[in-house]
Amino acid sequence: MSATVPGGCLPADVVLEFTAELSRALWHGGDGWSAARWLHDQPAAGPRRDELTHLVDGLAGLSPLERGDFAIAVNDDQVRSKLWLIDELSRHCDLGRASLLVLGGWYGILPLLANWRLAEPPARMLCIDVDPAVGEIGARVIGSLYPNVHYRDGDLTRLDYRELEALPNGIVINTSCEHIADRHWWSRVPRGQLAVLQSNDFTCCPEHVSCVRSVDELVRKKPMTSVLFAGELQLAEMHRYMLIGHR
Ligand SMILES: C[S@@+](CC[C@H](N)C(=O)[O-])C[C@H]1O[C@@H](n2cnc3c(N)ncnc32)[C@H](O)[C@@H]1O
Repeated sequence: MSATVPGGCLPADVVLEFTAELSRALWHGGDGWSAARWLHDQPAAGPRRDELTHLVDGLAGLSPLERGDFAIAVNDDQVRSKLWLIDELSRHCDLGRASLLVLGGWYGILPLLANWRLAEPPARMLCIDVDPAVGEIGARVIGSLYPNVHYRDGDLTRLDYRELEALPNGIVINTSCEHIADRHWWSRVPRGQLAVLQSNDFTCCPEHVSCVRSVDELVRKKPMTSVLFAGELQLAEMHRYMLIGHR
């Protein structure tokens, strides 16, 4: 059974403009209301306008530090990387019948974008993050709007991946590979599991402890039994690399 989210899909260009506006407003210490005002002039946002306004309302309750971090989570590079993932993954499976396990899921921007972009989004998207604070904010501002988005604290290097067996058509997604120094977590994912991995070459960030310089390097670090997609995306500040395939 797939989740039904009211309203039509948001076009990618509207998503990019809205999130850019939101990111700018939050980054400069605002509460995101300029993004809400921008929404009122956007006919293409029409059916989803209330939903987006609720999101902006929720962000108003964040501290300045939290707003700054959320601004990064919805910046242009982050959003383009996730729209790319949704487009490519949709070519390889029926996401409406899938459950997503989003590792290092941060605030849950991937599930948020999946709900905006897909006519039939996944029935269940579970974000797992080692930092309980980001999951708590995600649950409050995103999870409260979308019944198919859930959050749990957890360390992806210690997770019991056998629980995937209980998830109908589960897909493991890790768009935070550059943050994970541990080399062994990948071997703990069950062989044959459908997965999506993203990393990047943005070595300037001290938290990026496991960057790669090419998609081939990502393939070497995270070998798959079958690769359905391997590619790179040129972004403003970095290259994003992505693999879709079976562990
Ligand atoms: C900065 S964010 C995400 C960046 C990434 N490009 C993205 O948008 O998906 C990285 C997240 O990974 C989380 N993280 C780091 N190590 C982790 C681990 N061992 N288990 C789960 N989450 C982890 C961090 O807490 C953080 O929320």
